[in-house]
Amino acid sequence: MAEQTEAVHGTWSNRWIFILAATGSAVGLGNIWKFPYITGENGGGAFVLLYLVCIVLVGIPIMMGEVLIGRRGKLSPMESMRTLAKEAGASRLWRFVGWMGAIAGFLILSYYSVIAGWALIYVYRLGSGQLDGIGAVESEAMFNDLLADPVTLGLLHTAFMVMTMVVVARGVNKGIESAIRVLMPTLFVLLIVLLGYSLNSGGFEEGAKFLFTFDFSKLSGESVLVAMGHAFFTLSLGMGAIMVYGAYMPKDASIASTVVTVAALDTLVALAAGLAIFPIVFANNMEPSAGPGLMFVTLPVAFGQMAGGTIFGALFFLLVTFAAWSSSISLIEPLVAWCVEKSIASRPVVAAVLGLITWTLGIGTVLSFNEWSDVEFLLGKNFFDSIDYLTANIMLPLGGLLIAIFAGWSMRRSTVQKELNMDSFLLYNLWTVVVRLVAPTAVIVVVVWTLFQDQIVAILGLE
Ligand code: PHE
Repeated sequence: MAEQTEAVHGTWSNRWIFILAATGSAVGLGNIWKFPYITGENGGGAFVLLYLVCIVLVGIPIMMGEVLIGRRGKLSPMESMRTLAKEAGASRLWRFVGWMGAIAGFLILSYYSVIAGWALIYVYRLGSGQLDGIGAVESEAMFNDLLADPVTLGLLHTAFMVMTMVVVARGVNKGIESAIRVLMPTLFVLLIVLLGYSLNSGGFEEGAKFLFTFDFSKLSGESVLVAMGHAFFTLSLGMGAIMVYGAYMPKDASIASTVVTVAALDTLVALAAGLAIFPIVFANNMEPSAGPGLMFVTLPVAFGQMAGGTIFGALFFLLVTFAAWSSSISLIEPLVAWCVEKSIASRPVVAAVLGLITWTLGIGTVLSFNEWSDVEFLLGKNFFDSIDYLTANIMLPLGGLLIAIFAGWSMRRSTVQKELNMDSFLLYNLWTVVVRLVAPTAVIVVVVWTLFQDQIVAILGLE
């Protein structure tokens, strides 16, 4: 079964398309919107360092595990895990890791689309010159007005969901691959242009200092969980997105070098986004800890003042939209692939129905910014914060942990070695140790410590 060579859903035209698609999945709102604001909330440099450690120590090895499982299984994450578990004589329950991931992806997409909708309207606002010469106070008021208006937020969310599901409906090669071929190169060009602007913006030094000065006193216990959760989120790990893209990867491509390329590109984009946003924050005396609105409040101020800001501003938010778009398709692809495999309906029908369900859940996030802003769901958090916390900080790390255990302990060694096909025995052994021991330990310690900190302190009598 696992020896089948033809994928049901199609195969990327070449290894570069896999790199583009996986980078497209990884680079998204996580890099451009979330990374800067959580870095601001968690005090800057020390948080960045923690995040980088998590990428290298936990993210890259687990990503290799995901691609490996996907390419070997050639099916949706649920079915790939099931066939590989069978091949290795392991429990059938492993397929539930695929299921947990698919559900996490669906939950993330429900709010991801709402935030991407903000980017959509900012393309229009900047492009039409509405924000020319806007000050910090006005920009903040304008953003708050947007959040207070559930109808506009709902319409934008609808538009973005339609964009996502149209691509998914067209399938791997005609839909995802053709979109990625255009989106990704455009994105890199735009980012380089913007970085050039920020380098000359005046606040660059202070912004860079904020990002790269390691002041550990600013970190809280929860910061560690947020940094690790973000490493999973930004690399699209722990939920099967990379696994399902791995399933469409040609047999001859090297997994290790491909994964390192994707992780490096993703990290570079996050740092570039930080370097584009924080200088503007400091140059305009704004608060780095402004939260989810950080990018939407600060950047219009900068674009409003710069020559050619109308066009650059619109281009920037177009970039954010593209980045979000190439990520959102991978959030729902595991579920779609599974439904198609099981012949539940044709791809377009599956895409439409799942899109509608996700859209409905997204209304909860729309309302979190206005009518429901004080309604508590989990741990005293509103709907949006609850889903974000549950998925990024709990479900993705847990999924990643189980994937590491599966790839490290349950899969047959001969299969793993064959798929990874690494020239260096040393690197292969290093990967094995990390994926078996280091990554799982790190995830368990961080999640358990953060969730049960109070109880642990009480039991150990540390206070
Ligand atoms: N990695 C994407 C981002 O940073 C989000 C994402 C998470 C996409 C999980 C797919 C799977 O925006």
